[in-house]
Amino acid sequence: MGRGQLILIEGLDRSGKSTQSAILAEKLGKSKLLKFPDRSTSVGKIINEYLTNSSFQLSDQTAHLLFSANRWELNNEIIELLNDGYFVILDRYIYSGIAYSLAKYEYSKTANNSGVIASTTASEQMGDVEWLYGPDKGLPKPDLTLFLTLDLVELGKRKGWGNERYELEEFQKIVKSSFLRILNHEEDETVELVDVSGKNIEEVTALIWEVVEEKKVNQTTERQIEKLS
Ligand code: ADP
Ligand code: TMP
Ligand code: MG
Repeated sequence: MGRGQLILIEGLDRSGKSTQSAILAEKLGKSKLLKFPDRSTSVGKIINEYLTNSSFQLSDQTAHLLFSANRWELNNEIIELLNDGYFVILDRYIYSGIAYSLAKYEYSKTANNSGVIASTTASEQMGDVEWLYGPDKGLPKPDLTLFLTLDLVELGKRKGWGNERYELEEFQKIVKSSFLRILNHEEDETVELVDVSGKNIEEVTALIWEVVEEKKVNQTTERQIEKLS
């Protein structure tokens, strides 16, 4: 028996990641859905505090490293699940890690930054993609990454916007351009953009399934688990 495949659903806040990753896990059968940040772990609890309490301070570098540490907390579990033949669906992962931190660098330079979203003086490391990528090197590389992209006006109308640290329209705009800058979808054939603008949940599910079938990630494989390098 081959191993299961690792499928990542990335995207902006409210783009439909949680909705679609749950549907995909169900369709794949023997599967496990993991969400990052995983707020239940010891590091995840600190991240949750950081996201929900605007007076809880962490430096930009510290927050970045904690999000990566949170992925490392689940590294062994992911590998074991794949080797046991489970399809592992991730709701956010490394690209969120890089894109949000990179966006902080841009946002620090805007007049609106009060110090809640990012440090008031831009942290040099947040603008350095190599630095940002460093702590995630060695984690399992997804066999397929689907990035849900959506028109920002439509995104603003979605239900569920809350008061978490990054849920600010102006910041989300910058996050979108950061994602598009780092995804490398033109060269990396494991990364696909899925434009969900104007599409209902069922239509998005169908679009995603088309890619999953085309890339054959709904079948077990004999290929080794790749590591991010
Ligand atoms: P995310 O996990 O990316 O933040 P969710 O899956 O939680 O997004 O979806 C955010 C909100 O948008 C939810 O209220 C959800 O029901 C709704 N939603 C998800 N997909 C669509 C869609 N294709 N069209 C309209 N609303 C959607
Ligand atoms: P959630 O809304 O999907 O639970 O994600 C929580 C927030 O954390 C969201 O605004 C994106 C952000 N985030 C990072 O900044 N870095 C990361 O590595 C991850 C996984 C999420
Ligand atoms: Mg979600």
